[in-house]
Amino acid sequence: MSTSRSPGRISRRRFLEATAGTAAWVAVGGVAGLAATTLAGKPVASKRNPLFVPSTATPENFSLRAAPGQIDLGGGRTTRAWVYNGLMPGPTLIASTGDSASITLYNGLSQPTITHWHGMLVNHENDGHPMKAVDPGGTYVYEFPIMNRAALNWYHPHPHMLTGEQVAMGLAGAFIIRDDEETALGLPSGTHEVPLVLRDTDLDRTGNIVYKPRSGGWLGTYPLVNGTRDPYLAVDQGIYRFRVLGGANARIFGLALDNGLPFKLIGNDGGLLAEASDISQVDIAPGERLDLLVDFGPQSAGTRIMLRDVRSGWNLLEFQVGSKSATGTMPVGTLSTIVPLAGPSTVTRFFSFDGMTKINGREYDMHRIDFTVPFDVTERWRFTTNGNAPHPVHVHGASFQVVSRTGGRGRIFPWEGGWKDTVLLEDRETVDVMVRFDAYRGLYLMHCHKLEHEDMGMMANFEVI
Ligand code: C2O
Ligand code: CU
Ligand code: CU
Repeated sequence: MSTSRSPGRISRRRFLEATAGTAAWVAVGGVAGLAATTLAGKPVASKRNPLFVPSTATPENFSLRAAPGQIDLGGGRTTRAWVYNGLMPGPTLIASTGDSASITLYNGLSQPTITHWHGMLVNHENDGHPMKAVDPGGTYVYEFPIMNRAALNWYHPHPHMLTGEQVAMGLAGAFIIRDDEETALGLPSGTHEVPLVLRDTDLDRTGNIVYKPRSGGWLGTYPLVNGTRDPYLAVDQGIYRFRVLGGANARIFGLALDNGLPFKLIGNDGGLLAEASDISQVDIAPGERLDLLVDFGPQSAGTRIMLRDVRSGWNLLEFQVGSKSATGTMPVGTLSTIVPLAGPSTVTRFFSFDGMTKINGREYDMHRIDFTVPFDVTERWRFTTNGNAPHPVHVHGASFQVVSRTGGRGRIFPWEGGWKDTVLLEDRETVDVMVRFDAYRGLYLMHCHKLEHEDMGMMANFEVI
């Protein structure tokens, strides 16, 4: 029997009958081979793959190569992808406040690219602005001091009109910053601190990642966590710290654990929140980050807990609790002091996210400066939209504080406290943020982080002067 697939044919079906006569099942072959159906109506444990956790590196004298590669999505299912240093997600960069980064980007793709350090306070030269994109075969050298407080940031491509494709094809990685304030909390570390890069994907008939952009935003058919399909993570009976990144092009995830266990929410885009809170469901839009603790201590060995996306009904990641106990305590009380940005009560700047391609009625022009902002002055920025949302609004060059949301969901959520660099705007919502650019003067970007909207022009240049 031939195992090759002829074009236009659907997957072969194979019928298997167990010799013992107690169980019979249908296995659906083909690319996915995932659907576990039972004739007897009994659930068959679907095969899950160990969660991939990228290797770590310091950003000092670091070479970052963007190039096509071959990736195992789990269980030997390989796909062609575009990857940083052969990995999807790329290596997790780890540095401390006060360190310096020196990174050389090599473009091994067949189209221009440039890497942006999302969330990092860097000057224009180091920000991955689309006008800095380098051609295939080219390099770009980054040198910057690490000024941020402890946080999960990330890196991804930012070339003009190609960001959606390059991220969808696999180019993204985590960038973790540490500082003394965070270290003093004694949060879970080592194997108990796990980055979770969430995204979705589409695969073609041969199992390769395909990108099919749609103006409304590209939604894939399968979830990937750290590039793994149907992953599991073996955990002990201790406390885990999950550094979660919304790494999809357009999809918003609504995270919950299927046994109702709450998350301890301790941080977001800009690092630690003022205090921890228990929360049973949390949303994460493209570009956003979450810092979540989960205590598996009360769970008995053998328990399986599913991290779910309640919006799509997807199973994202299964935690398989082992018998090893572990020590550790949940933080109580104050985590950090967040000094509110005091500023004007009236709007300094107003941004209307129009349709799927415009901010304030204009499509992005790489060479036009849309507005200027005074250095070191606190301003109130108002983001609004009538429709075509969600628009996860992202600002380069500074973190901001979300101060109000009217219309739509009409409130600020616990994960929107502290410091943010991306805030979700749903239909008919108006969100006010306070922002102050006190790191650098120069040219920066604001844009919708639904990457198809960004690529189609929902982006603006501004200069801090
Ligand atoms: Cu994560 Cu301007 O981007
Ligand atoms: Cu950014
Ligand atoms: Cu948008």
